[in-house]
Amino acid sequence: MKDVRLSVKKAYSKVAKNKISCCSSDCGCGESSSLLISESDLGLSCGNPVAFSKIKNGMTIVDLGSGAGKDVFIAAQLAGKNGKVIGVDMTEEMIKLAKKNARKFKEKTRLNNVEFKKGFIEDIPVKDNVADLVISNCVINLSPDKKKVFEEIYRILKPRGEMVVSDIVLDKKLPKKLKNDKDLYSACLSGALLKKDYLSAIKKAGFKNVKILVSKKYSFSGAGCDHITSGKGNRLKFFASSVTVYAQKGY
Ligand SMILES: C[S@@+](CC[C@H](N)C(=O)[O-])C[C@H]1O[C@@H](n2cnc3c(N)ncnc32)[C@H](O)[C@@H]1O
Repeated sequence: MKDVRLSVKKAYSKVAKNKISCCSSDCGCGESSSLLISESDLGLSCGNPVAFSKIKNGMTIVDLGSGAGKDVFIAAQLAGKNGKVIGVDMTEEMIKLAKKNARKFKEKTRLNNVEFKKGFIEDIPVKDNVADLVISNCVINLSPDKKKVFEEIYRILKPRGEMVVSDIVLDKKLPKKLKNDKDLYSACLSGALLKKDYLSAIKKAGFKNVKILVSKKYSFSGAGCDHITSGKGNRLKFFASSVTVYAQKGY
């Protein structure tokens, strides 16, 4: 687990420092929101979980793998001054960048309702039963222990709390050579689970009402991380989809 997380961390430290993308930005997530803080969008997303979340004033929201803070800042404007959004990310450089962006966010919106915590999504630095909503955008596929991630999301949600996550899943098994490719792991492909296994891991963690809200064939050609995927673009076609999944904690 440590090895995988280390190489993912390295890849995303580089992204934060150089602001180059690692996951494909070919997600059709249409980030045209007037609530966007442009510096926080590094083109790393594979969906738009905020758009599918019914965020209300006063909600407590946790964003897993928050990167430079893009979804945190959008959600925070919807949750308002009585709400709070916590971004969690394991990469020091991403947390630094997100905190820098948070200062711009505060200047622009006069809101003081975001917090960024360094930590692993397999061991979320948040207490039990505190979140109304957990979101995540193109991150869980990078975890070497997805089962633990879904258990952790369940733990921090309040009863009836909701999870809306966008992620990459596989439509068919990857050939061994691609599966063992470290760069493709950081590029959000080779760590991904088969769609049915992904949904089954969510259900096993205890979630109810599990449903796919969006499923879109994922194209790796012309991906944001060309230096990683370009040579393999054609071979990667038709292996994966980007999905947005909803689930609810029972009561
Ligand atoms: C593809 S980027 C997505 C960033 C952001 N969600 C967005 O849409 O812009 C993945 C992010 O997840 C973080 N990450 C990956 N694995 C993680 C883990 N196991 N625990 C915490 N953060 C992780 C990386 O540091 C990186 O910032």
